[in-house]
Amino acid sequence: MTDMIWNTIYNCDCIEGMRRLPSGSVDLVFADPPFNIGYDYDVYRDKLTDEDYWNWSKRWMAEVNRILKPDGTFWLAIGDEHAAELKVAATREIGFICRSWVIWYYTFGVNCKHKFTRSHAHLFHFVKNADQFTFNEEAIRIPSARQLVYNDKRANPKGRLPDDTWILRPQELEQEFGADKDTWFVSRVCGTFKERTGWHGCQMPEAILERIITVSSSSNEKILDPFLGSGTTVVVAKKLGRQFLGFELSKEYWEQCQKRLDFATKNVPKTAKTKKSTSEFPNLFE
Ligand SMILES: C[S@@+](CC[C@H](N)C(=O)[O-])C[C@H]1O[C@@H](n2cnc3c(N)ncnc32)[C@H](O)[C@@H]1O
Repeated sequence: MTDMIWNTIYNCDCIEGMRRLPSGSVDLVFADPPFNIGYDYDVYRDKLTDEDYWNWSKRWMAEVNRILKPDGTFWLAIGDEHAAELKVAATREIGFICRSWVIWYYTFGVNCKHKFTRSHAHLFHFVKNADQFTFNEEAIRIPSARQLVYNDKRANPKGRLPDDTWILRPQELEQEFGADKDTWFVSRVCGTFKERTGWHGCQMPEAILERIITVSSSSNEKILDPFLGSGTTVVVAKKLGRQFLGFELSKEYWEQCQKRLDFATKNVPKTAKTKKSTSEFPNLFE
């Protein structure tokens, strides 16, 4: 039994929140935890020792594993600093199977001195059972080059699955990162973007969550986000007709998140409404 009510968000610690859920009860968890890089959050202090951060990560990821159904899916967004350690912990210690290591390539990263400017984050697609998990490939297929360029009769009329890449010449982005390419190219949520809430510095683009929730869950299934932040996951889950649950440590963020959620309309995904993305670059789902 649980006292947690679905389609609700809670102002609490995520480990405590997940402990109140029965084992094997959630279809999909999307987690975008603090990256332990000294980011200035409202309440959480993002500068643990490496050991403390890894131990804490293992504790919350073990809870994710426990609450997921046997055919459940776990997507983890993480930065370079701890991507390798968290991937090893998730697979070797906790027992997840890694299906994909996706690179989310974005523009408008912070300019750096004496190093290359960061323009990506890692998205790990983990499952509990290698043979049984939701992967709605029909829902995310894109037109293939065989169809678009070569007019090849052998082309699958349903298109192909999206795929990953290196790019050295950002001026060629439009050609290199079309919807038929394998690196997920979505701009960060910048100051001028319509979807920007303005009160949380780590807001994920809805397009990222839209693809993840669409491919890894089906209508009315249960989606959980342990680190709500601005609430992107629950907002997109609501728009896509999924049940949702989320936890956020900061009361201020949680209150703002509730307002954003109240405003979101069920079954109207952002990318379904607009032909063009909010950035000047192609949208994932066009
Ligand atoms: C990277 S942000 C998430 C951003 C989110 N994906 C979005 O689209 O806005 C991480 C969030 O986790 C919250 N947080 C940190 N520790 C937490 C914990 N133990 N339980 C719940 N939330 C926590 C922070 O306050 C922060 O808002």
